[in-house]
Amino acid sequence: MAYSEPFRIKTVEKIYQSTEEERRKWIEESHFNMFYLRSDQVAIDLLSDSGTGAMSCEQWAELMLGDEAYAGSASYFKLEKAVKDVFGMPYFLPAHQGRGAENVLFATILQKGDMVVNNVHFDSTKAHIEYRNAIAKNCVIAESKMDDVYHPFKGNVDTEELERILKAKESVKLIFVTITCNNIGGQPVSIGNMREVYKIAHKFNIPVCYDAARFAENAYFIKTRESEFSDHSIREILQEMFRYCDLMVVSCKKDALANTGGFLAFRSEELYEQAKVYESFFEGLHSYGGLSGRDMGAMSVGIYESLDFDFLRSRNRQLEFLAGKLEQNGIPFMKPVGGHAIFINAGKFLPKVPVLEFPGQTLAVELYIRSGVRGLEFGSLPSGRDPKTGLNRIADAEYLRLCVPRRTYTDNHLNVVAESLISLYKERDSIKTGLEIVYEAPIMRYPTVRLKRVEDKKINRI
Ligand SMILES: Cc1ncc(COP(=O)(O)O)c(C=O)c1O
Repeated sequence: MAYSEPFRIKTVEKIYQSTEEERRKWIEESHFNMFYLRSDQVAIDLLSDSGTGAMSCEQWAELMLGDEAYAGSASYFKLEKAVKDVFGMPYFLPAHQGRGAENVLFATILQKGDMVVNNVHFDSTKAHIEYRNAIAKNCVIAESKMDDVYHPFKGNVDTEELERILKAKESVKLIFVTITCNNIGGQPVSIGNMREVYKIAHKFNIPVCYDAARFAENAYFIKTRESEFSDHSIREILQEMFRYCDLMVVSCKKDALANTGGFLAFRSEELYEQAKVYESFFEGLHSYGGLSGRDMGAMSVGIYESLDFDFLRSRNRQLEFLAGKLEQNGIPFMKPVGGHAIFINAGKFLPKVPVLEFPGQTLAVELYIRSGVRGLEFGSLPSGRDPKTGLNRIADAEYLRLCVPRRTYTDNHLNVVAESLISLYKERDSIKTGLEIVYEAPIMRYPTVRLKRVEDKKINRI
């Protein structure tokens, strides 16, 4: 059966059609870092699905209803209602975006030397933990590292390893489950795994927190891949998913379909009261958390819109359309394709480029020059350096992440992406050298890093 997108386009934005010559100049001026490019230098922007989606006419209408009172705004209460209703969390604090919520949470509960275990930490989560001299430990099933092995829930926590860690370590403060798991390709977590994690965590008296930026995509995969839930609605699946956590942090720039915003929510009133103290000096008063009333309104509408199965199915099919084209041409990527992005294995795509010349970034640069498509390296560049040794951390794989913003691009745009990758793949043997770092920040280096092309093969330092 053929399905179309369950929406039509009402407003459009012009895309400047640049030349390859212009793009060569712009990327060099941008130090070969995608974050320094201006958006009008980009034709198809797959840098991030964060805050880049198209809002609905109902969300735009809600902006006009935004209540900008300093305290107790009506928009705050609309958001509170959505959070309680959809996630079943009685206490919540808005935040300007996901990492704002993380900052409040970790300030509340984390001390030096503590450990947080996660399937895979998102970089801002890891940075917040390491900034507090605590330890961010990943604990995901082995299949997540095998691109060609099919597993329906590659984001699952390795529960045997989790139990081993908890038995050996007394300082584990929190168990995170990132749904879907961004850093390994937007791979989902099953409800079976959530139940098991919760059981183990409670045996050791440790709270479970969901990093739930992509809650709806995760629920879609549960409905389509976990047979117990095939007849459940997305809303019912979410209710079941959120029974197995004690608190949550959310970036509403993803599945909540807002251009900005986030929140943290709790079952415990005590923890909420403690976090409220940090909220007021990091984010703002507990009833706005760094947000305007209109943004809270857009978030509250977006949370409900994200539950639409037809929308989630059409989004998933768009990613499968791109994945199918790459598969037909033998291009290596993480399988199955994730909820929000396709992760091209750049290490395999460009085998001649050494790891520390960043094959993912090199592929991102070549793709941009060819067709103006902007993607993001997801490999050793964001892995940064070991805080103790100062050495580069080598990622398990060198990926180029192509994120698909929600309700923004057509299949035809994605066809251009596929065709550009296919033509580059045919010429891959001619790409033998990559990039080297000329400047990097001490923490979270990738957004501001400056690179240059490696001219000879001498550079291979760790
Ligand atoms: C899984 C995950 N957690 C947290 C964040 C941080 O959210 P924000 O960008 O809104 O600060 C992101 C952002 O991409 C994410 O993907």
